[in-house]
Amino acid sequence: MKLLVTGGAGFIGSNFVRYFLREHPEDEVVNLDALTYAGNLENLSDIEGDPRYTFVHGSITDRDLVFDLVKDVDAIVNFAAESHVDRSILDADAFVKTNVLGTLVLLDAALAHGKKRFHHVSTDEVFGSLGPDDPAFDENTPYAPRNPYSASKAASDHLVRAYFHTHGLPITISNCSNNYGPYHFPEKMIPLFISNLKEGKTVPVYGDGLQIRDWIYVEDHCSGVDAVLQKGKIGETYTLGDDNEVKNLDLTKTMIGLLGLSEDRIEFVKDRPGHDRRYATNSSKAREELGWEAKTTLEEGLRLTIDWYEDHKEWSDRCKSGAYKEYYEKNYGSK
Ligand code: NAD
Ligand code: TYD
Repeated sequence: MKLLVTGGAGFIGSNFVRYFLREHPEDEVVNLDALTYAGNLENLSDIEGDPRYTFVHGSITDRDLVFDLVKDVDAIVNFAAESHVDRSILDADAFVKTNVLGTLVLLDAALAHGKKRFHHVSTDEVFGSLGPDDPAFDENTPYAPRNPYSASKAASDHLVRAYFHTHGLPITISNCSNNYGPYHFPEKMIPLFISNLKEGKTVPVYGDGLQIRDWIYVEDHCSGVDAVLQKGKIGETYTLGDDNEVKNLDLTKTMIGLLGLSEDRIEFVKDRPGHDRRYATNSSKAREELGWEAKTTLEEGLRLTIDWYEDHKEWSDRCKSGAYKEYYEKNYGSK
């Protein structure tokens, strides 16, 4: 199979490209990425020379480019997105352009070239915020996004499903919970906190810190996306998560403990507007239909992640300074 992966230079996309090439030695990957601030080709420097891997610099909103690329692949996995909630609160424009209009371009291209297999990577955030006693999100939970990021992802999910019902496009969707692990851009909570703690700084916990997230190690998400791509029923949605509900404050204390530091490094800061209180996922459909399950416990995953950031301090520093952008210019010419 020749797979078009979009957003493959980002956090989850780069982990997925590496996972996919390792698990499918006969298959090829074309990675289409616009290299926004979140796209970092250093994430994939180890597979650069692999003849089964090609990088294409461009946007999923570029119709001519996308139609050209889709013609030559068997399937598409769409990771490309603007993904940070805090940025969407400051300016939602790029979120609608990439997440909604970009997805539409990919769907149109998949349709135009003989109904190519299309997997759309989405988030549990489209379901909104749970109360303390609400059941976890699953495939039947109504959509109720509450911030511009999740609203744009919800819109894209609806379009993907509409192309199945209206045009018979062979799609699947996965809605996954919060990921963490290697190559996570240090603006998101876990890598930001690890990096601040290592540098002797405080960590900014929003509001009372009692918001709950359901964390999954990124490699487990990658195996879930692959399982849906290979075995998922066409037209269906799969919830992926790991039953790892934890309050932000408790997670922060765990990270501080793993690093052997003191809790006086916690700094409570102004809350995020529209901050969703609780996410939780029920992945029983994926477990039963696909035989998939997350394998990494939160404790193990945090350890692996802290160790990874310890071993890749330069990677993290280059993300923060912006120096990672030089990698593209050096290897692919200037933009
Ligand atoms: P990320 O921000 O780290 O990476 C996004 C990638 O998409 C970057 O490489 C960026 O350059 C690229 N991109 C952005 N706009 C583009 C465009 N117009 N054309 C082509 N490429 C473009 O995001 P991530 O955390 O890796 O998330 C990947 C996907 O997984 C997203 O669709 C996100 O909604 C979804 N998701 C993320 C999480 C999470 O916890 N991070 C959880 C569930 C689902
Ligand atoms: P984040 O990593 O931004 O993911 P998302 O908003 O997609 O869930 O945030 C995870 C949780 O951590 C969320 O409840 C917001 C909180 N948070 C902080 O308390 N401080 C921070 O500096 C950041 C970035 C997030």
